[in-house]
Amino acid sequence: MINQSKIEELNKIAKQMVTPGKGLLAADESMNTVGKRFSAISLENTEDNRRSFREMLLTAPGEGQYISGVILFDETIKQKTGSGKSFVEVLKEEGILPGIKVDQGLVDFGTAGEKTTKGLEGLAGRLSEYAALGAKFCKWRAVITIGQGMPTDENIRQNAKDLAAYALECQKAGLVPMVEPEVLLDGNHTIQQCEVASEKILTALFEEIKNKAVALEGLILKTNMVLPGKDSGVKVMPEEVAEATLRVFKKVLPNSLAGIAFLSGGQGEQEATANLNAMHLAGSLPWPITFSYARALQDGATKAWQGKPENLSVAQNVFLHRAKMNSLASLGKYSTDMEKDFNVSEAESVSQD
Ligand code: G3H
Repeated sequence: MINQSKIEELNKIAKQMVTPGKGLLAADESMNTVGKRFSAISLENTEDNRRSFREMLLTAPGEGQYISGVILFDETIKQKTGSGKSFVEVLKEEGILPGIKVDQGLVDFGTAGEKTTKGLEGLAGRLSEYAALGAKFCKWRAVITIGQGMPTDENIRQNAKDLAAYALECQKAGLVPMVEPEVLLDGNHTIQQCEVASEKILTALFEEIKNKAVALEGLILKTNMVLPGKDSGVKVMPEEVAEATLRVFKKVLPNSLAGIAFLSGGQGEQEATANLNAMHLAGSLPWPITFSYARALQDGATKAWQGKPENLSVAQNVFLHRAKMNSLASLGKYSTDMEKDFNVSEAESVSQD
């Protein structure tokens, strides 16, 4: 059981994470995943290139207007800018909360392709190390696969139990847990199948959260939008995505949950923004709902950057534009027309000023 004064502290941080008009940047890709992003721009996956990549994202001037928190990776929370300032310091100066991914990746569950997440062993020790480095919140990602006979009830239950166990450890350490069950976009499933799978995992998760007496006021849910599989060839309008997603949330989620932040999951940048915007056009909601994107905030900026120092300000302007669009979407104030006002050539002219 978490005591009341700790719950109040956690609630303050959680509320700051979902401040109206702000959302989170996920910059916590494993070295392997960064390698995939770098191979698309033909950049070698070295520690120094990863450092420069994170520096490009974390030092974009004024990003604290749109970004409330950044999820870092173990390597990144210990790194410094080229001029020797720790990334944690850089974020604090912008009023941005540093967060940290504390799971240790996916492992097989059964033989059909389902996964669970490892990292509970030694977690308490890692949490106190990260708290000492300045982290204020954590992330743990579990994935749910839709396919022949999947997701299984056993996989759903195991992931829910692990997420709840992680959340309790975080709260004991004074860190806000972001619990991230992600129903994967991979596959050719329908939007209805995604809705069913999302409802199942969220139901199981909040049962386990209750069993463990995790404080809802100090908890952020990071999850997927309800979408058809990316190989289904089906395109749905943002209104339909919002309707299906919010139907699940309203059925399953307790009102006292501190907030919700979406992952982008492989949606296009503008698609993820438009879908978030639609969530806010559907009437008032009991929870703040915002973004916590990796690819949908970083893709354009990564392409503009190409690993070249001379592209730094162009890339940062691309990133700031995306962050601004998502900030507006988190208030229901985004429209696709706003994209026309910005393109990379404009970013170039801004950067030459
Ligand atoms: O765990 C996943 C990331 O935090 C979000 O990544 O927006 O690219 O899906 P994504």
